[in-house]
Amino acid sequence: MSLIPFSPPRIDDEIINEVVAALKSGWITTGPRTKQFEKDLSVYNGNPNTLCLNSATAGLEIMLRWFGVKEGDEVILPAYTYSATANVVMHCGATPVLVDVNSDDFNINSAAVEKAITARTKVIMPVDFGGLPCDYTALMALVNKPAVKSHFKASTKEQEQLGRIMILSDAAHSLGAYYKGRHTGVCADVSVFSFHAVKNLTTAEGGAIALHLPAPFDNEEVYKYLCILTLHGQNKDALAKMQKGNWKYDILEAGFKCNMTDLMAAIGLVELKGTITIP
Ligand SMILES: Cc1ncc(COP(=O)(O)O)c(C=O)c1O
Repeated sequence: MSLIPFSPPRIDDEIINEVVAALKSGWITTGPRTKQFEKDLSVYNGNPNTLCLNSATAGLEIMLRWFGVKEGDEVILPAYTYSATANVVMHCGATPVLVDVNSDDFNINSAAVEKAITARTKVIMPVDFGGLPCDYTALMALVNKPAVKSHFKASTKEQEQLGRIMILSDAAHSLGAYYKGRHTGVCADVSVFSFHAVKNLTTAEGGAIALHLPAPFDNEEVYKYLCILTLHGQNKDALAKMQKGNWKYDILEAGFKCNMTDLMAAIGLVELKGTITIP
């Protein structure tokens, strides 16, 4: 009996050489390769800014926390997904509200989402299961419905700015997928990809937040803030601190620690160039 391997990672000479080059450069943590990978992902997906992290799980939780999701809030997600989608909601102290999926594509059912919305709903987290995008047209139309918007109770600056329920796509499976001619990174307010070992593009572990927030948000500003939030609240990363006379830094808040390393980005850079054409 021959076994069919489950999504084996690409480990060829090109990948190995780039990882070795990163090692030999002496720069192994977040640095030039991570920054380049973020830029390439933004070009590939067509969204303004992308932040790479050590997992999609971290990316999803960071975005919930950025939006101010907390105890008493509800987040709607599909009943059919990996545990990470619900766990991050619970880590924030909020309640995951599980709704049914479609019988054909196994993605979240928009009519079921509408029925589940309450005055406590802050976020909808659709999942592009198996890489098949959700019905983003229906979900976006739903959160923009005047009757739904008028029930939204903003309790943070970010919630006030958006003025409605946020669509945070769990796009862990769907880097490279198209929805109505556009990549999945530009279908929701924010999409989070996974680069775990079995994903369609891998960096061993890893993930990325694709920012696609509407006006009045400045995605570049949000990106800069998230860089700080994901590095213990440090206002300079290791690369910035290495510049001459720039070693002093401040801790602005009790942030998290989930940055991507350049060794991971080395794999991602080759994968993105090699397996997918950057337009
Ligand atoms: C639907 C879904 N969401 C989130 C994740 C979490 O991704 P990561 O392992 O990069 O944290 C996974 C991982 O398999 C997943 O399948």
